[in-house]
Amino acid sequence: MPSHRTLGTTDEQMTASKPSDLDQATLDIAAKVIKNGGIDRELALPEKGLSAAQVSQALAALSEIPNTKWSNGRVSGAVYHGGEDMAKIWVEAFSRFEVSNPLHADCFPGVRKMESEIVSMALTLFNSPLPSSAIDQTGGAGCTTSGGTESILMACKTYRDRARVEKGIKEPEMIIPLSAHAAFDKAGEFFGIKVHHVPVDEETRQVDVAQVAALINENTIFLVGSAPNFPDGAIDDIPALSELALKYDLGLHVDCCLGSFLVPFVEKAGYPMLPFDFRVPGVTSISCDTHKYGFAPKGSSIIMYRSKHLRSFMFSVMPTWPGGVYATTGVAGSRPGAIIAGAWASMQYMGIDGYLESCREIVGAAKAIVKGIKSDFPELYVLGNPLVSVVAFASKTISIADVGAAMAARGWHLNTLQHPVAIHIACTRLTVPAVDEFLGDLRFAVDSASPIKVEDDDQVALYGLGGSSEMKNELVTKMSKRYLDVLYS
Ligand SMILES: Cc1ncc(COP(=O)(O)O)c(C=O)c1O
Repeated sequence: MPSHRTLGTTDEQMTASKPSDLDQATLDIAAKVIKNGGIDRELALPEKGLSAAQVSQALAALSEIPNTKWSNGRVSGAVYHGGEDMAKIWVEAFSRFEVSNPLHADCFPGVRKMESEIVSMALTLFNSPLPSSAIDQTGGAGCTTSGGTESILMACKTYRDRARVEKGIKEPEMIIPLSAHAAFDKAGEFFGIKVHHVPVDEETRQVDVAQVAALINENTIFLVGSAPNFPDGAIDDIPALSELALKYDLGLHVDCCLGSFLVPFVEKAGYPMLPFDFRVPGVTSISCDTHKYGFAPKGSSIIMYRSKHLRSFMFSVMPTWPGGVYATTGVAGSRPGAIIAGAWASMQYMGIDGYLESCREIVGAAKAIVKGIKSDFPELYVLGNPLVSVVAFASKTISIADVGAAMAARGWHLNTLQHPVAIHIACTRLTVPAVDEFLGDLRFAVDSASPIKVEDDDQVALYGLGGSSEMKNELVTKMSKRYLDVLYS
């Protein structure tokens, strides 16, 4: 055997030159995701900085790489549009607070003021009393964060640390609905909290409270309900979870990240609603995303607590750090004050009347979709009883994958769900004028769908790698990591 092999000549290398299935799938993803619009990729800093005009030209070219067309209302969620003038308000807020950083509250008093007001306004909206002064320990408290995931992460860390200090719990556990957002599982991984997933009722899509009760043990630190959840938009039975939380002295987090600035207005807009906020006595924290239906710029959410005492477990303080005493509220150290200014300005611009009107329109659009599906699509069924903006639907007779593909071919970007396989649309202001088009295109999609297939229930089977669910999860995890790699290619 020669000690050196010539490239490309051995059987082994012949095989190696053919991409593996995983590599081929990665290349397929890359072909779909990487759209550079013919612009060269910059792999290193320019030797000499560009002029302002050149930077502006380059930015213009990048902005012209076609985005998914979202302004026609065919994208589920994703772009929570606050109306024509909102962009101008953001730009003004950004430009006035461009260098600000709330980590240095003394340097940027305006940002500190806006941040505290965002939290107070949200607490008021979610029916929490407010402390009357800096030293009043009664009333609710909260912080802003970078988004729903960070709000949820911080709530989980808060409950973990409180349970450790106050109850000596070293192996914490949380009990969440199967339909709760994946951020809770992420928090479980990050903070070493065991996560119990409780199935939802097939009809109502609400978490099965009896099963939640059965899982409570001496390591349980808190329970979770969503208002509404992401997959099918159901609102869990928060009063029933509250009873459990009070009985067993547990925290109860209500995830209103998606419900954000819709849920407080649903009833006022004249639609039915379920209890979800601090008026329910066992609710101890609520996450609410300003950057969804609050119409704030991306990177903005609020985590609220029933008390300052509870919030104190969220904070991190490093009293002996050589760089000085270091105290922060969330994951980040430095934070963009410009985003806080954008969120504050969005909230001021919308006001109660603006949010009420947008709620009326958005929830109205969701209701029109539910009504249309129920009356004209016997092939489909709506999951649960959507009360807010998300409508999910599935079928017992036709292939939902085909329906999704036909809708995609007509320019719709809907979310595909699993367990059960379903499609959802999260209505936004942009969906409002597109409801009739949605139902029209759905007619075409349903009519062209083939009968239900086994693979519909098991998309991974399409890769021919069937087998156990662990194998599928492993494959999906590998592919997802490749997808994340691709984003940096
Ligand atoms: C119910 C719910 N919770 C949490 C999140 C996480 O929010 P973010 O994407 O801002 O991290 C989402 C996002 O869609 C959500 O729908």
